[in-house]
Amino acid sequence: MERSEFERRRRELMAMMGEGSIAVVPTAPERTRNRDVLYPFRPDSDFYYLSGFAEPEAVLVLIPGREHGEYILFCRERDPQREQWDGLRAGQEGAVKRYGADDSFPIDDIDDILPGLMEGCERVYYTMGVDLEFDHRVIGWVSHVRERTRAGIRAPSEFVSLEHLLHEMRLIKSRAEVEVMRRAAQISAAAHRRAMEVCRPGMMEYEIEAEFEAIYRRYNGRAAYPSIVGGGRNGCILHYIENDARLEDGDLLLIDAGVEIEYYASDITRTFPVNGRFSPEQKAVYEIVLAAQEAAIAEVRPGRSWNAPHEAAVRVLTQGLLDLGLLKGSLDEALEQESYRPFYMHRTGHWLGMDVHDVGDYKIDSHWRELEPGMVTTIEPGLYFSPMLEGVDERFIGIGVRIEDDVLVTASGHEILSEGAPKAVDEIEALMGGR
Ligand code: GLY
Ligand code: MN
Ligand code: MN
Repeated sequence: MERSEFERRRRELMAMMGEGSIAVVPTAPERTRNRDVLYPFRPDSDFYYLSGFAEPEAVLVLIPGREHGEYILFCRERDPQREQWDGLRAGQEGAVKRYGADDSFPIDDIDDILPGLMEGCERVYYTMGVDLEFDHRVIGWVSHVRERTRAGIRAPSEFVSLEHLLHEMRLIKSRAEVEVMRRAAQISAAAHRRAMEVCRPGMMEYEIEAEFEAIYRRYNGRAAYPSIVGGGRNGCILHYIENDARLEDGDLLLIDAGVEIEYYASDITRTFPVNGRFSPEQKAVYEIVLAAQEAAIAEVRPGRSWNAPHEAAVRVLTQGLLDLGLLKGSLDEALEQESYRPFYMHRTGHWLGMDVHDVGDYKIDSHWRELEPGMVTTIEPGLYFSPMLEGVDERFIGIGVRIEDDVLVTASGHEILSEGAPKAVDEIEALMGGR
Protein backbone atom coordinates (compact mmCIF):
# COMPACT_ATOMS: atom_id res chain seq x y z
CA MET A 1 0.00 0.00 0.00
CA GLU A 2 1.30 3.49 -0.88
CA ARG A 3 2.71 5.71 1.83
CA SER A 4 0.18 8.39 0.84
CA GLU A 5 -2.66 6.09 1.97
CA PHE A 6 -1.34 6.07 5.55
CA GLU A 7 -0.70 9.83 5.40
CA ARG A 8 -4.26 10.45 4.30
CA ARG A 9 -5.61 8.38 7.20
CA ARG A 10 -3.54 10.29 9.75
CA ARG A 11 -4.66 13.61 8.28
CA GLU A 12 -8.30 12.53 8.33
CA LEU A 13 -8.09 11.37 11.94
CA MET A 14 -6.30 14.55 13.05
CA ALA A 15 -8.93 16.72 11.35
CA MET A 16 -11.60 14.97 13.46
CA MET A 17 -9.57 15.20 16.68
CA GLY A 18 -8.93 18.92 16.31
CA GLU A 19 -6.26 21.02 17.99
CA GLY A 20 -5.58 20.67 21.69
CA SER A 21 -5.58 16.90 21.49
CA ILE A 22 -3.10 14.05 21.39
CA ALA A 23 -3.62 10.47 20.20
CA VAL A 24 -1.49 7.65 21.58
CA VAL A 25 -1.58 4.34 19.70
CA PRO A 26 0.72 1.46 20.72
CA THR A 27 1.33 -1.54 18.52
CA ALA A 28 0.70 -5.07 19.79
CA PRO A 29 3.06 -6.62 22.34
CA GLU A 30 5.23 -9.56 21.32
CA ARG A 31 3.82 -12.79 22.75
CA THR A 32 5.52 -15.91 23.99
CA ARG A 33 4.54 -19.19 22.38
CA ASN A 34 6.57 -21.45 24.64
CA ARG A 35 9.67 -20.86 26.74
CA ASP A 36 11.86 -18.50 24.65
CA VAL A 37 9.96 -18.94 21.38
CA LEU A 38 7.75 -16.05 20.30
CA TYR A 39 4.72 -16.13 18.02
CA PRO A 40 5.47 -14.46 14.68
CA PHE A 41 4.83 -10.78 15.33
CA ARG A 42 1.61 -9.26 13.99
CA PRO A 43 1.21 -5.48 14.49
CA ASP A 44 -1.94 -4.10 16.08
CA SER A 45 -4.45 -3.26 13.33
CA ASP A 46 -5.23 0.28 14.56
CA PHE A 47 -1.53 1.05 14.83
CA TYR A 48 -0.69 -0.39 11.42
CA TYR A 49 -3.70 1.31 9.81
CA LEU A 50 -2.22 4.69 10.75
CA SER A 51 1.49 3.98 10.40
CA GLY A 52 2.17 1.17 7.92
CA PHE A 53 4.91 0.24 10.42
CA ALA A 54 5.25 -3.47 11.19
CA GLU A 55 8.02 -3.60 13.81
CA PRO A 56 7.24 -4.48 17.43
CA GLU A 57 7.82 -2.03 20.31
CA ALA A 58 6.43 1.09 18.70
CA VAL A 59 3.99 3.83 19.67
CA LEU A 60 2.39 6.32 17.30
CA VAL A 61 1.56 9.80 18.58
CA LEU A 62 -0.52 12.37 16.72
CA ILE A 63 -0.77 15.97 17.88
CA PRO A 64 -2.84 18.01 15.39
CA GLY A 65 -1.52 21.51 14.87
CA ARG A 66 1.77 20.96 16.73
CA GLU A 67 4.30 23.36 15.30
CA HIS A 68 7.31 21.06 15.57
CA GLY A 69 5.60 18.10 13.95
CA GLU A 70 2.21 16.47 14.25
CA TYR A 71 3.27 12.83 13.80
CA ILE A 72 5.79 11.32 16.19
CA LEU A 73 6.80 7.67 16.01
CA PHE A 74 8.54 5.99 18.93
CA CYS A 75 10.38 2.88 17.80
CA ARG A 76 13.44 0.76 18.49
CA GLU A 77 16.88 2.22 17.90
CA ARG A 78 19.21 0.73 15.35
CA ASP A 79 21.38 -1.92 17.01
CA PRO A 80 23.72 -3.89 14.74
CA GLN A 81 24.13 -6.69 17.26
CA ARG A 82 20.41 -7.22 17.84
CA GLU A 83 19.70 -6.78 14.14
CA GLN A 84 22.14 -9.61 13.40
CA TRP A 85 19.85 -11.88 15.43
CA ASP A 86 16.33 -10.50 15.00
CA GLY A 87 16.33 -8.64 11.69
CA LEU A 88 16.70 -5.08 10.47
CA ARG A 89 15.13 -2.09 12.19
CA ALA A 90 14.06 1.20 10.67
CA GLY A 91 15.43 3.22 13.57
CA GLN A 92 14.62 6.89 14.04
CA GLU A 93 16.03 7.91 10.68
CA GLY A 94 14.01 5.26 8.88
CA ALA A 95 10.85 6.24 10.77
CA VAL A 96 11.15 9.76 9.36
CA LYS A 97 12.47 8.97 5.89
CA ARG A 98 10.54 5.81 5.09
CA TYR A 99 7.42 6.07 7.20
CA GLY A 100 6.74 9.80 7.02
CA ALA A 101 7.05 10.62 10.73
CA ASP A 102 7.74 14.29 11.44
CA ASP A 103 9.95 13.19 14.30
CA SER A 104 10.99 9.91 15.90
CA PHE A 105 12.46 8.95 19.27
CA PRO A 106 13.78 5.72 20.75
CA ILE A 107 11.01 3.68 22.38
CA ASP A 108 13.17 3.40 25.50
CA ASP A 109 12.91 7.18 25.99
CA ILE A 110 9.12 7.34 25.82
CA ASP A 111 8.60 7.83 29.59
CA ASP A 112 10.81 10.93 29.48
CA ILE A 113 9.39 12.42 26.29
CA LEU A 114 5.66 11.66 26.18
CA PRO A 115 4.61 13.76 29.21
CA GLY A 116 6.23 16.77 27.53
CA LEU A 117 4.23 16.11 24.36
CA MET A 118 1.03 16.02 26.40
CA GLU A 119 1.64 19.43 27.94
CA GLY A 120 -0.94 21.91 26.76
CA CYS A 121 -3.22 19.22 25.30
CA GLU A 122 -6.75 19.06 26.71
CA ARG A 123 -7.80 15.71 25.35
CA VAL A 124 -6.02 12.35 25.16
CA TYR A 125 -7.37 10.00 22.49
CA TYR A 126 -6.56 6.50 23.58
CA THR A 127 -8.19 3.05 23.60
CA MET A 128 -8.49 1.92 27.22
CA GLY A 129 -8.88 -1.69 28.32
CA VAL A 130 -6.98 -3.53 25.59
CA ASP A 131 -3.55 -3.60 27.24
CA LEU A 132 -3.79 -2.94 30.99
CA GLU A 133 -0.07 -2.46 31.39
CA PHE A 134 -0.01 0.22 28.72
CA ASP A 135 -3.15 1.84 30.23
CA HIS A 136 -1.17 2.34 33.43
CA ARG A 137 1.69 3.94 31.59
CA VAL A 138 -0.63 6.39 29.82
CA ILE A 139 -2.25 7.33 33.13
CA GLY A 140 1.24 7.70 34.60
CA TRP A 141 2.25 10.13 31.86
CA VAL A 142 -0.87 12.23 32.43
CA SER A 143 -0.23 12.30 36.22
CA HIS A 144 3.30 13.36 35.53
CA VAL A 145 2.07 16.39 33.59
CA ARG A 146 -0.50 17.11 36.30
CA GLU A 147 2.22 17.26 38.93
CA ARG A 148 3.69 20.15 36.99
CA THR A 149 0.52 22.24 36.81
CA ARG A 150 1.84 24.54 39.56
CA ALA A 151 4.60 25.50 37.15
CA GLY A 152 1.85 26.83 34.89
CA ILE A 153 1.68 23.70 32.69
CA ARG A 154 -1.79 22.67 31.55
CA ALA A 155 -2.52 18.95 31.87
CA PRO A 156 -5.03 16.99 29.78
CA SER A 157 -8.41 16.88 31.50
CA GLU A 158 -10.27 14.50 29.23
CA PHE A 159 -9.73 10.94 28.03
CA VAL A 160 -11.58 10.27 24.78
CA SER A 161 -11.91 6.80 23.34
CA LEU A 162 -10.08 6.64 20.06
CA GLU A 163 -12.12 3.75 18.67
CA HIS A 164 -15.16 5.89 17.89
CA LEU A 165 -13.29 7.88 15.29
CA LEU A 166 -10.79 5.31 14.14
CA HIS A 167 -13.10 2.34 13.82
CA GLU A 168 -15.65 4.30 11.82
CA MET A 169 -12.80 5.14 9.46
CA ARG A 170 -11.72 1.51 9.26
CA LEU A 171 -15.29 0.38 8.61
CA ILE A 172 -15.46 2.24 5.29
CA LYS A 173 -12.80 0.83 3.00
CA SER A 174 -10.90 3.06 0.58
CA ARG A 175 -10.17 2.12 -3.01
CA ALA A 176 -6.69 0.92 -2.01
CA GLU A 177 -8.11 -1.23 0.78
CA VAL A 178 -10.72 -2.77 -1.50
CA GLU A 179 -7.98 -3.68 -3.97
CA VAL A 180 -6.02 -5.55 -1.30
CA MET A 181 -9.16 -7.24 0.04
CA ARG A 182 -10.19 -8.30 -3.45
CA ARG A 183 -6.75 -9.83 -3.96
CA ALA A 184 -6.90 -11.64 -0.61
CA ALA A 185 -10.36 -13.02 -1.43
CA GLN A 186 -9.21 -14.15 -4.89
CA ILE A 187 -6.23 -16.01 -3.44
CA SER A 188 -8.40 -17.72 -0.83
CA ALA A 189 -11.00 -18.57 -3.45
CA ALA A 190 -8.29 -20.20 -5.57
CA ALA A 191 -7.21 -22.22 -2.52
CA HIS A 192 -10.77 -23.43 -1.92
CA ARG A 193 -10.97 -24.47 -5.55
CA ARG A 194 -7.68 -26.32 -5.19
CA ALA A 195 -9.02 -28.15 -2.13
CA MET A 196 -11.94 -29.42 -4.20
CA GLU A 197 -9.54 -30.55 -6.92
CA VAL A 198 -7.23 -32.55 -4.66
CA CYS A 199 -9.66 -33.95 -2.07
CA ARG A 200 -9.99 -37.76 -2.04
CA PRO A 201 -11.50 -40.17 0.50
CA GLY A 202 -8.78 -41.38 2.88
CA MET A 203 -6.83 -38.12 2.93
CA MET A 204 -6.27 -36.39 6.25
CA GLU A 205 -7.80 -33.01 7.07
CA TYR A 206 -4.32 -31.56 7.63
CA GLU A 207 -3.27 -32.53 4.11
CA ILE A 208 -6.04 -30.28 2.81
CA GLU A 209 -4.94 -27.54 5.22
CA ALA A 210 -1.43 -27.86 3.77
CA GLU A 211 -2.80 -26.96 0.31
CA PHE A 212 -4.11 -23.69 1.73
CA GLU A 213 -0.82 -22.87 3.45
CA ALA A 214 1.10 -23.57 0.24
CA ILE A 215 -1.04 -21.19 -1.77
CA TYR A 216 -1.04 -18.49 0.93
CA ARG A 217 2.76 -18.50 1.17
CA ARG A 218 3.09 -18.37 -2.61
CA TYR A 219 1.49 -14.90 -2.37
CA ASN A 220 3.36 -13.86 0.78
CA GLY A 221 0.18 -14.31 2.79
CA ARG A 222 -0.60 -16.09 6.01
CA ALA A 223 -3.80 -17.56 7.40
CA ALA A 224 -6.00 -14.71 8.67
CA TYR A 225 -7.21 -17.11 11.41
CA PRO A 226 -6.62 -20.82 12.07
CA SER A 227 -8.06 -22.81 9.17
CA ILE A 228 -11.12 -24.90 9.95
CA VAL A 229 -10.97 -28.15 7.97
CA GLY A 230 -13.71 -30.41 9.29
CA GLY A 231 -14.79 -33.65 7.66
CA GLY A 232 -18.17 -35.23 8.51
CA ARG A 233 -19.38 -34.41 12.00
CA ASN A 234 -16.34 -32.17 12.59
CA GLY A 235 -18.05 -29.76 10.22
CA CYS A 236 -20.72 -29.28 12.89
CA ILE A 237 -18.16 -27.82 15.34
CA LEU A 238 -18.02 -24.12 14.54
CA HIS A 239 -14.41 -23.49 15.58
CA TYR A 240 -12.94 -26.94 14.81
CA ILE A 241 -9.20 -26.47 14.26
CA GLU A 242 -7.66 -29.84 15.18
CA ASN A 243 -7.75 -30.80 11.49
CA ASP A 244 -6.32 -34.23 12.23
CA ALA A 245 -9.07 -36.67 11.20
CA ARG A 246 -9.37 -38.89 8.14
CA LEU A 247 -11.73 -37.79 5.38
CA GLU A 248 -14.27 -40.52 4.83
CA ASP A 249 -16.02 -41.55 1.66
CA GLY A 250 -19.61 -40.31 1.86
CA ASP A 251 -18.90 -37.41 4.24
CA LEU A 252 -18.98 -33.70 3.60
CA LEU A 253 -15.94 -31.51 4.17
CA LEU A 254 -16.44 -28.01 5.57
CA ILE A 255 -13.49 -25.66 5.10
CA ASP A 256 -13.48 -22.17 6.61
CA ALA A 257 -10.17 -20.61 5.63
CA GLY A 258 -8.91 -17.27 4.38
CA VAL A 259 -5.60 -15.60 3.74
CA GLU A 260 -4.36 -12.33 5.21
CA ILE A 261 -2.59 -10.13 2.68
CA GLU A 262 -0.90 -6.90 3.79
CA TYR A 263 -2.80 -7.28 7.07
CA TYR A 264 -6.21 -7.53 5.38
CA ALA A 265 -8.26 -10.66 5.94
CA SER A 266 -10.43 -12.79 3.74
CA ASP A 267 -12.86 -15.29 5.26
CA ILE A 268 -14.40 -17.94 3.02
CA THR A 269 -16.25 -21.17 3.75
CA ARG A 270 -17.07 -23.90 1.29
CA THR A 271 -18.61 -27.29 1.96
CA PHE A 272 -18.34 -30.15 -0.53
CA PRO A 273 -18.51 -33.96 -0.61
CA VAL A 274 -15.24 -35.75 0.06
CA ASN A 275 -15.98 -38.14 -2.82
CA GLY A 276 -17.23 -35.46 -5.21
CA ARG A 277 -20.94 -36.42 -5.15
CA PHE A 278 -23.56 -35.07 -2.75
CA SER A 279 -25.90 -37.67 -1.21
CA PRO A 280 -29.63 -36.77 -1.45
CA GLU A 281 -29.70 -35.59 2.21
CA GLN A 282 -26.48 -33.64 1.87
CA LYS A 283 -27.74 -32.03 -1.31
CA ALA A 284 -31.08 -31.13 0.26
CA VAL A 285 -29.38 -29.38 3.18
CA TYR A 286 -26.78 -27.76 0.95
CA GLU A 287 -29.37 -26.30 -1.42
CA ILE A 288 -31.21 -24.72 1.52
CA VAL A 289 -28.03 -23.08 2.82
CA LEU A 290 -27.11 -21.89 -0.66
CA ALA A 291 -30.57 -20.41 -1.21
CA ALA A 292 -30.32 -18.71 2.20
CA GLN A 293 -26.93 -17.28 1.29
CA GLU A 294 -28.19 -15.99 -2.05
CA ALA A 295 -31.22 -14.40 -0.38
CA ALA A 296 -28.95 -12.75 2.19
CA ILE A 297 -26.49 -11.46 -0.41
CA ALA A 298 -29.41 -9.98 -2.37
CA GLU A 299 -30.08 -7.75 0.68
CA VAL A 300 -26.60 -6.24 0.60
CA ARG A 301 -26.96 -2.74 -0.83
CA PRO A 302 -26.74 0.83 0.45
CA GLY A 303 -29.59 1.85 2.72
CA ARG A 304 -30.56 -1.67 3.79
CA SER A 305 -30.36 -2.50 7.48
CA TRP A 306 -27.31 -4.43 8.68
CA ASN A 307 -29.72 -7.05 9.93
CA ALA A 308 -31.64 -7.52 6.65
CA PRO A 309 -29.30 -10.22 5.27
CA HIS A 310 -29.56 -12.17 8.54
CA GLU A 311 -33.35 -11.97 8.53
CA ALA A 312 -33.47 -13.12 4.90
CA ALA A 313 -31.14 -16.05 5.62
CA VAL A 314 -33.05 -17.15 8.72
CA ARG A 315 -36.30 -17.10 6.77
CA VAL A 316 -35.00 -19.36 4.01
CA LEU A 317 -33.24 -21.72 6.44
CA THR A 318 -36.35 -22.05 8.57
CA GLN A 319 -38.59 -22.72 5.58
CA GLY A 320 -36.08 -25.33 4.46
CA LEU A 321 -36.12 -27.05 7.85
CA LEU A 322 -39.93 -27.10 7.72
CA ASP A 323 -39.84 -28.58 4.21
CA LEU A 324 -37.46 -31.32 5.37
CA GLY A 325 -39.84 -32.14 8.22
CA LEU A 326 -37.19 -31.21 10.79
CA LEU A 327 -39.37 -28.42 12.22
CA LYS A 328 -43.12 -28.38 12.78
CA GLY A 329 -45.75 -25.67 12.52
CA SER A 330 -45.98 -22.55 10.36
CA LEU A 331 -43.06 -20.43 9.17
CA ASP A 332 -44.18 -17.48 11.28
CA GLU A 333 -44.41 -19.61 14.41
CA ALA A 334 -41.01 -21.18 13.79
CA LEU A 335 -39.47 -17.71 13.25
CA GLU A 336 -41.21 -16.31 16.31
CA GLN A 337 -40.00 -19.19 18.50
CA GLU A 338 -36.57 -19.26 16.86
CA SER A 339 -36.93 -23.02 16.61
CA TYR A 340 -34.20 -23.06 13.92
CA ARG A 341 -31.60 -22.28 16.60
CA PRO A 342 -30.45 -25.84 17.35
CA PHE A 343 -29.42 -26.03 13.67
CA TYR A 344 -28.33 -22.40 13.11
CA MET A 345 -26.82 -20.76 16.18
CA HIS A 346 -24.65 -18.00 14.76
CA ARG A 347 -25.27 -14.75 12.93
CA THR A 348 -25.14 -14.43 9.16
CA GLY A 349 -22.13 -12.13 8.98
CA HIS A 350 -19.65 -9.72 10.47
CA TRP A 351 -17.57 -6.80 9.26
CA LEU A 352 -14.37 -7.85 7.54
CA GLY A 353 -11.16 -5.87 7.17
CA MET A 354 -7.79 -5.81 8.89
CA ASP A 355 -9.33 -7.98 11.59
CA VAL A 356 -11.36 -10.98 10.53
CA HIS A 357 -14.13 -9.93 12.89
CA ASP A 358 -13.50 -6.34 12.01
CA VAL A 359 -14.17 -3.19 13.97
CA GLY A 360 -17.17 -0.90 13.54
CA ASP A 361 -20.48 -0.65 15.36
CA TYR A 362 -23.41 -2.76 14.18
CA LYS A 363 -25.96 -0.54 15.91
CA ILE A 364 -26.33 3.21 16.20
CA ASP A 365 -28.46 4.43 19.12
CA SER A 366 -29.58 0.83 19.65
CA HIS A 367 -30.86 0.46 16.05
CA TRP A 368 -29.19 -1.71 13.42
CA ARG A 369 -27.24 0.63 11.20
CA GLU A 370 -27.67 0.98 7.43
CA LEU A 371 -25.23 -0.48 4.94
CA GLU A 372 -23.05 2.06 3.14
CA PRO A 373 -20.73 1.83 0.14
CA GLY A 374 -17.24 0.73 1.22
CA MET A 375 -18.37 -1.58 4.01
CA VAL A 376 -17.32 -5.22 3.68
CA THR A 377 -19.31 -7.96 5.38
CA THR A 378 -19.24 -11.71 5.29
CA ILE A 379 -22.44 -13.59 4.44
CA GLU A 380 -22.24 -17.02 6.01
CA PRO A 381 -25.40 -18.96 6.78
CA GLY A 382 -25.14 -22.61 7.74
CA LEU A 383 -27.02 -25.62 9.04
CA TYR A 384 -25.49 -28.05 11.49
CA PHE A 385 -26.90 -31.43 12.50
CA SER A 386 -24.61 -32.23 15.38
CA PRO A 387 -24.52 -35.76 16.80
CA MET A 388 -25.17 -34.06 20.14
CA LEU A 389 -28.71 -33.16 19.02
CA GLU A 390 -31.42 -35.48 20.20
CA GLY A 391 -34.57 -36.53 18.41
CA VAL A 392 -33.40 -35.50 14.94
CA ASP A 393 -33.91 -37.66 11.86
CA GLU A 394 -30.79 -39.91 11.79
CA ARG A 395 -30.28 -39.40 8.08
CA PHE A 396 -29.18 -35.81 8.70
CA ILE A 397 -26.92 -36.38 11.69
CA GLY A 398 -23.29 -35.44 10.99
CA ILE A 399 -24.15 -33.05 8.17
CA GLY A 400 -22.66 -29.59 8.67
CA VAL A 401 -22.89 -27.02 5.89
CA ARG A 402 -21.75 -23.40 5.82
CA ILE A 403 -21.24 -21.21 2.77
CA GLU A 404 -19.40 -17.95 3.36
CA ASP A 405 -18.48 -15.14 1.00
CA ASP A 406 -16.92 -11.70 1.43
CA VAL A 407 -19.22 -8.99 0.12
CA LEU A 408 -18.42 -5.35 -0.56
CA VAL A 409 -21.25 -2.80 -0.44
CA THR A 410 -21.00 -0.70 -3.61
CA ALA A 411 -22.89 2.44 -4.69
CA SER A 412 -25.27 0.34 -6.78
CA GLY A 413 -25.49 -2.83 -4.68
CA HIS A 414 -22.68 -5.21 -3.92
CA GLU A 415 -19.65 -7.04 -5.24
CA ILE A 416 -18.83 -10.58 -4.10
CA LEU A 417 -15.07 -10.40 -3.59
CA SER A 418 -14.74 -14.17 -3.11
CA GLU A 419 -16.64 -15.17 -6.23
CA GLY A 420 -13.92 -17.45 -7.61
CA ALA A 421 -14.72 -20.29 -5.19
CA PRO A 422 -17.33 -22.63 -6.73
CA LYS A 423 -20.52 -23.11 -4.74
CA ALA A 424 -23.29 -24.41 -7.01
CA VAL A 425 -23.85 -28.17 -6.62
CA ASP A 426 -23.32 -28.94 -10.32
CA GLU A 427 -20.25 -26.70 -10.45
CA ILE A 428 -18.65 -28.52 -7.49
CA GLU A 429 -19.57 -31.97 -8.80
CA ALA A 430 -18.25 -31.13 -12.26
CA LEU A 431 -14.98 -29.83 -10.82
CA MET A 432 -14.52 -32.87 -8.60
CA GLY A 433 -15.65 -35.31 -11.24
CA GLY A 434 -16.89 -37.95 -8.76
CA ARG A 435 -14.18 -40.01 -7.09
N1 GLY B 1 -13.79 -17.78 10.32
C1 GLY B 1 -14.46 -17.10 11.33
C2 GLY B 1 -15.80 -16.71 10.91
O1 GLY B 1 -16.29 -17.21 9.93
O2 GLY B 1 -16.40 -15.86 11.49
MN1 MN C 1 -15.20 -17.98 8.30
MN1 MN D 1 -16.77 -15.24 9.04
